[in-house]
Amino acid sequence: MTKVINKVVEDLTSEFTEVRKLTDDLFKTLSIEDAVIQSDPFGSPPNWHIAHVTWFFHKILLKYGEKLNLENINLDYLNSYYQKFEKILPKNDRGKFPRPTVSESLQYRKYLDKKVLLFLEKIEVSDSLTKEIQYDLRLANQHEMQHQELMVYDFQNYFERFSDSNDTYHPFKINDDIEKKIQNKRHSKEMVKIPGGIFEMGFCGDSFSYDNELPDHKVYLYPYEIDSTPVSNGDFLNFIEEGGYEKYEYWLSDGWDIVQEFNWNSPLYWFKKDDVWMKKDFFGISAINPDQPVINVSYYEADAYARWAKKRLPTEAEWEKAASWNEDLKRKTIYPWGNETLPTHEHANLLESFLWRPSFCGSYEEGKSFYGCYQMIGDVWEWTSSEYTLYPGFKSRFSEYTDKWAINQKVLRGGSFATPRRQIRNSYRNYFKPHERIQFSGFRCAK
Ligand SMILES: [Fe+2]
Repeated sequence: MTKVINKVVEDLTSEFTEVRKLTDDLFKTLSIEDAVIQSDPFGSPPNWHIAHVTWFFHKILLKYGEKLNLENINLDYLNSYYQKFEKILPKNDRGKFPRPTVSESLQYRKYLDKKVLLFLEKIEVSDSLTKEIQYDLRLANQHEMQHQELMVYDFQNYFERFSDSNDTYHPFKINDDIEKKIQNKRHSKEMVKIPGGIFEMGFCGDSFSYDNELPDHKVYLYPYEIDSTPVSNGDFLNFIEEGGYEKYEYWLSDGWDIVQEFNWNSPLYWFKKDDVWMKKDFFGISAINPDQPVINVSYYEADAYARWAKKRLPTEAEWEKAASWNEDLKRKTIYPWGNETLPTHEHANLLESFLWRPSFCGSYEEGKSFYGCYQMIGDVWEWTSSEYTLYPGFKSRFSEYTDKWAINQKVLRGGSFATPRRQIRNSYRNYFKPHERIQFSGFRCAK
């Protein structure tokens, strides 16, 4: 038993250390001026992110009776939305209250790092690791990973406003050599056929999953086809050029209202210069690359495109079966390519690939699914047509985390180039409101 506990604590410790370091690395190239701005009501100031994730660990330690001495730092502004922790700063106001200050946030992080490591040592020595402690600490690590990705959305959104091409977020690390290796493979676009029948969707394994991926349960699927790659910028340009944003026939009513009200005529961040669609990203300003997956589109845009293409968006069960079912093994796998512990650079484009943009459609031969779908994990989140609801038999493991959001949101699957590799798997469920498009969301179609 002690041996098992040691291994779990060892894993938790290394995961914790790795996650905390990556957050620091993402943050450290920002100036103080850039660290305290809330670029959009959708997002948060980077300084808030790094303090808030620390506050989350803080709450976990308090739950288990740890004593903390933090009287000198004002932590009143760090509760995102937990009614159970009382005072909540409205999300829109995060940029108006830059407290803790940046130096205090960094100090707070250091202090909590020490406290969490001491707590882990203590539970290891005393053999007192319960399933609940384990889940809470894993959750806190995963929560910080989610905020790493949200921070990257904020960097894109914030720096895009400066017209100077070089005035952008400067990542602490860029791996352009991986991209050259991976992107030399092109795959012809096609749809793959998936047989129907009963499919058991949801997480099935011993490693971590969120409570909303459980329990796995049977669903019935009719035979369907699904795109083998995400929809590319080139595909989406055809939709635009054929008047996609001008014809109400393609749009859901709420989506059409938004197109009219905000004059949407392209994905977020695109602009036209000398008749060429351009965008500013982490590499400065350049022309839209037709071979990359389309990104920063809302559910409404994905759905309109699908209607224009005479297809539809897949349900989340269809998406999950295409990613996870292995007909030869007669079982699901955690990743499209199998059950390996963690995705590598060869499998998928995730945050630790440090590419900072999606790879070409049809990349990552090693990462394709049994049915031949590419990039189900990494590159771009994929909208599905499913509402975010809790699975039958759902049991909350940490109230207000995944449960109370199960209303008026659509499920996205698969992760993006900004998703940490320890976070994503076939059964992972992300959710956003249908009009939102600051997240790195694309899609593939089904029929
Ligand atoms: Fe959070």
